[in-house]
Amino acid sequence: MEERLQKVLAQAGVASRREAEKYITAGRVKVNGKVVRELGTKVDERAYIQVDGKPVKREHKVYLLFYKPRGVVTTMKDPEGRRTVADYVRDVPERVFPVGRLDYNTEGLLLLTNDGDLAQAMMHPSHGVNKTYEVTVPGIVPEAKLDQLRLGVPLEDGMTAPAVVQLAQYDHDKNLTHFTVTIHEGRNRQVRRMCDYIGFPVRTLKRVKMGSLTLKGLGRGRCRDLDPDEVKALKKACGLHD
Ligand code: URA
Repeated sequence: MEERLQKVLAQAGVASRREAEKYITAGRVKVNGKVVRELGTKVDERAYIQVDGKPVKREHKVYLLFYKPRGVVTTMKDPEGRRTVADYVRDVPERVFPVGRLDYNTEGLLLLTNDGDLAQAMMHPSHGVNKTYEVTVPGIVPEAKLDQLRLGVPLEDGMTAPAVVQLAQYDHDKNLTHFTVTIHEGRNRQVRRMCDYIGFPVRTLKRVKMGSLTLKGLGRGRCRDLDPDEVKALKKACGLHD
């Protein structure tokens, strides 16, 4: 994929886009051995870029969809020696990191990337992407309680934004209620705390959707690359433009 030279320089961490533009017009940037001063210049992945004669190391952007199992910490290293996300991406050469987090006992969809811009945009509260969770709680949950979740509940860090809550079913034999919650905020342990508030502590929690991404076809503990259209849609959903 071809991209503007100043963007490539910014992504490689050489300078901000604006600074990189100055480098270009000042004649400090070479592409495949030739000085380039044109700001609109586009380059592909194979272009050999130098700034002040020094080669620019370009990191390939990686976007992985991971089905995190329960009992895995959403970090790349755990001082307590528990299983981490890093244990599942040992053969990925790029230095990917998780976008946001899932609790140790929550399973489901997690995005891993080395694209700091996307990670930052996705976690920004003003354009948080919709996230859907399958929730199981013990007992029968009255509709009025689900309505409270729909309207927003007061947590210690403020009211939650309205949520979409859909009752799935009540399992008589196990005395469990299953429902889904869709939120766009990403506060710490948010769904668990919302359910605590209505008096139905979570038994199991699974994130099944993020933006338009789902767990479909992905086994527990497995990863897959996003395809370019999925990356594009995700960037658009959180207000990033190429
Ligand atoms: N809400 C929670 O309570 N836990 C998670 O892991 C994600 C959302």
